[in-house]
Amino acid sequence: MTRIDRLLSIRGYGSRKDVRALIKAGEVLLNGRVVTDPAEKVDIDKDTVSVGGQELARDRHIYIMMNKPAGVLCASRDKRSKTVIDLLPEEIKWRDLFPAGRLDKDTEGFVLITDDGDFAHRMLAPSKHVSKTYEAVVDKPLSPAHVEAFEAGLVLSDGTAFLPAKIRQISGERESGQYLVEIVLYEGKYHQIKRMLAAVGLGLIYLKRTKMGGLELDPCLEKGESRLISAEELERIFAD
Ligand code: URA
Repeated sequence: MTRIDRLLSIRGYGSRKDVRALIKAGEVLLNGRVVTDPAEKVDIDKDTVSVGGQELARDRHIYIMMNKPAGVLCASRDKRSKTVIDLLPEEIKWRDLFPAGRLDKDTEGFVLITDDGDFAHRMLAPSKHVSKTYEAVVDKPLSPAHVEAFEAGLVLSDGTAFLPAKIRQISGERESGQYLVEIVLYEGKYHQIKRMLAAVGLGLIYLKRTKMGGLELDPCLEKGESRLISAEELERIFAD
């Protein structure tokens, strides 16, 4: 059971204050009866809730897009460091949330946070070929040999083999010794980009994830901000 104002806030009807305004306006019905108390308890598995005449789906899972800042851990909890879950608004922290796929502590950008284990599994399975796109600043211009090495699938001296990936330069020299490149991966191994770049003799200066499958990081999200992902956006992840 959860409070109706909390439930509607999680489901994207705005802040608790916004939800209270909807309740006050008589827009929220619980089992066909107008709700007047924002603290009223709801069992989403049994009760029928509607807002403005539209029934709330019974899907109990939540999907959040976050623009992770550097210095924050991609984990559910940690004794010493701040995690992506610590950055979420209070009203959604109570769920069993976890980041689906990790970014290193010093990497920025798109992290998907959810409580849906099946979804995370589907999204991360290499067999699903969901791409992850990154912007990286490297210390040398790309040569055709770099591009070919990525496309062929790199094998490191310790035997680690990476799936074929893409790399392309997207700007000339930005500052002295800084070149912006785009990298697309189809799997997520530990320190993958750092290790792939090192293997071809490129130094990494900055890394940000910008896209998962066909879904881009919302440019309106400042570092540390997050928002819910809509059902239509969720589908875009697999439609790339
Ligand atoms: N590759 C890395 O090396 N680090 C990340 O955070 C993501 C991909």
